[in-house]
Amino acid sequence: MRVADRIGKLPPYFFAKLGRRIRELKAEGRDIILLDIGSPDLPPPDFVIEEMYRSVQDPDRHGYGGYYGTPELRKAVATYYQTRFQVRLDPEKQVAILIGSKEGIANVALAFVDPGQTVLVPDPGYPTYGMGTLLAGGVPVNVPLLAENGFLPDLEAIPAEVARSAKILWLNYPNNPTGAVAPLEFFSRVVDFAKRYDLLVCHDNPYCDVTFDGYVAPSFLQVPGALDVGLEFNSLSKTYNMAGWRVGMAVGNATAVEALSRTKTNIDSGIFLPIQDAASVALTGDQTWLEVRNQIYQERRDCILETLKQIGIEASTPVASLYIWAKVPEGYDSGGFATRLLEQAGISITPGSAFGPHGEGYMRISLGMSTQRIHEAMERLEQFVY
Ligand SMILES: Cc1ncc(COP(=O)(O)O)c(C=O)c1O
Repeated sequence: MRVADRIGKLPPYFFAKLGRRIRELKAEGRDIILLDIGSPDLPPPDFVIEEMYRSVQDPDRHGYGGYYGTPELRKAVATYYQTRFQVRLDPEKQVAILIGSKEGIANVALAFVDPGQTVLVPDPGYPTYGMGTLLAGGVPVNVPLLAENGFLPDLEAIPAEVARSAKILWLNYPNNPTGAVAPLEFFSRVVDFAKRYDLLVCHDNPYCDVTFDGYVAPSFLQVPGALDVGLEFNSLSKTYNMAGWRVGMAVGNATAVEALSRTKTNIDSGIFLPIQDAASVALTGDQTWLEVRNQIYQERRDCILETLKQIGIEASTPVASLYIWAKVPEGYDSGGFATRLLEQAGISITPGSAFGPHGEGYMRISLGMSTQRIHEAMERLEQFVY
């Protein structure tokens, strides 16, 4: 059987491959601590689960979920953006409901990228920006994120002809995998850059409410002119511990929202209504519990950083995101170190190279695992000889 050429260009999704090796080790009786994938271990708050429970018992909530999401959920997204970022959105024209943001991140390329066109993607970065581009027949062009620039892209270093021929510029702050954050001043420069080169800016913001040490993450849409050029992807996965529920949104420029929605309506048929009902309640209900949850992540972060320091591994202290981005020790590449850690210590982390060539030399450690298991992993790490 011959699969399409475009599939030939796609590597298997990294975490799917890693998962297979972990299953083999577990089958051999090994206890593996998973600090690789960014899936929150904690549940959503009770009031969200109760709304799901109430809605699922309603016989009228079992049909198709509607192509554009329920009006209530679109309104809830607009209310959340107004309250959280003071960004005013028209729920009819500037909000698209997604089956998790990953779905929209991949589909936006079908809406904007013709075969052979280029897309600027951060390196290291969340792999779906580039994979969605490839699926649409486009060509991802890596934009390096370097430690010396605070893991922000150096816009002026992008050659004018490269910027001019690109369709989309992808950004993601708070950043996966580096944990870096971006100031509003940077977003203003991005708006100017996008206007100069006629680019759609896709800002991916799923970690905006996973923050520590009092840091408050902005929305790209807060800066003047952003709505002219920008689409922001967001998600309930990390903010509300709802990764498995599959619900997210794309908000911003009305033309971009319409193009993405038109693409989606031809591919999917919406989200299960009780999930949309629970998502509406999550976005508009009490948000104070997030502080307690973030405090838990912050304690895990500090525990991991303490151990890394003790064993001589260099890492910066993230004020947001679910990750610690640490240097792999001298003498290893990131894949080799990750394999050794998995096989010898039973700790699974993500090698930086999984996020692009500029991720080489780093590893990503996730905070989405129970505090007790993180303590156990740190005890193993203290004994680990590298
Ligand atoms: C930067 C980034 N964007 C998007 C996603 C996808 O999130 P969702 O669960 O909304 O599809 C992730 C998930 O890890 C992510 O790290």
